[in-house]
Amino acid sequence: MRLVFLGPPGAGKGTQARILSERFGARQISTGDILRDNQERQTDLGHMAESYMQRGDLVPDALIVKMIEAELAECSNFIMDGFPRTVAQAEALDALLKERRLALDAAVLFAANPQTLVARLTSRWTNPRTGRTYNTITDPPRVPGVDDEDGGPLMQRDDDRPETVIRRLEVYDAQTKPLVAFYRATGRLVEVDALQPVDTVTAQILKVAVSAQPQATS
Ligand code: AP5
Repeated sequence: MRLVFLGPPGAGKGTQARILSERFGARQISTGDILRDNQERQTDLGHMAESYMQRGDLVPDALIVKMIEAELAECSNFIMDGFPRTVAQAEALDALLKERRLALDAAVLFAANPQTLVARLTSRWTNPRTGRTYNTITDPPRVPGVDDEDGGPLMQRDDDRPETVIRRLEVYDAQTKPLVAFYRATGRLVEVDALQPVDTVTAQILKVAVSAQPQATS
């Protein structure tokens, strides 16, 4: 399984990548999670990415592509969640896959409207250790602020403040939306309705992008 998930912030890419990677044994490669982990560990990459992420801007392509190269060296079955985000990143991914004689199965576009996204992101709570997300409106934890699975504290992301969410949506429109045409032109684009409940979105992805795939191992 080799998929990329495309879509605006809050569309549910991380939620679905987590579900499907567990089910199919593919690696979830979330550039946002990798960058946040680097910030937490105060690495050079974390420091370089910090100001871009705080503003809601994209981290420069060169840094991101280097990160992805390292991730891809370790696996051939993956779900990319948050990458690529520019045409230059998509071209770099195609080149990396070509070098390894691998092909992408599909780019899955998560279609959603901005109003829903702002509401979802400002009510999102995350377990920073596992990446498991909750939503205080649609999917609250049993105890507020506490993860159902490991009992650890949940937190809100810095870039989920309303003003930063608005900036992230603008950046998506300007820099990431062109990828829709990029993948459509090469017949790799499929689309799901990201406003449906989580289980329904999972079923749609299975139908349009995964049903023809063998059950993969990582
Ligand atoms: P990143 O971490 O990738 O954030 P994002 O793309 O903005 O996506 P999110 O994680 O906010 O949303 P999501 O679509 O995963 O939604 P989720 O499943 O959590 O990037 C952060 C920053 O890092 C960027 O701004 C940039 O600075 C940098 N960066 C990352 N990658 C980069 C790259 N390639 N190039 C350059 N810079 C990069 O769901 C959201 C909420 O909704 C949750 O509460 C969830 O429970 C809920 N929910 C999910 N699905 C549903 C549903 N179907 N119904 C109801 N609620 C739902």
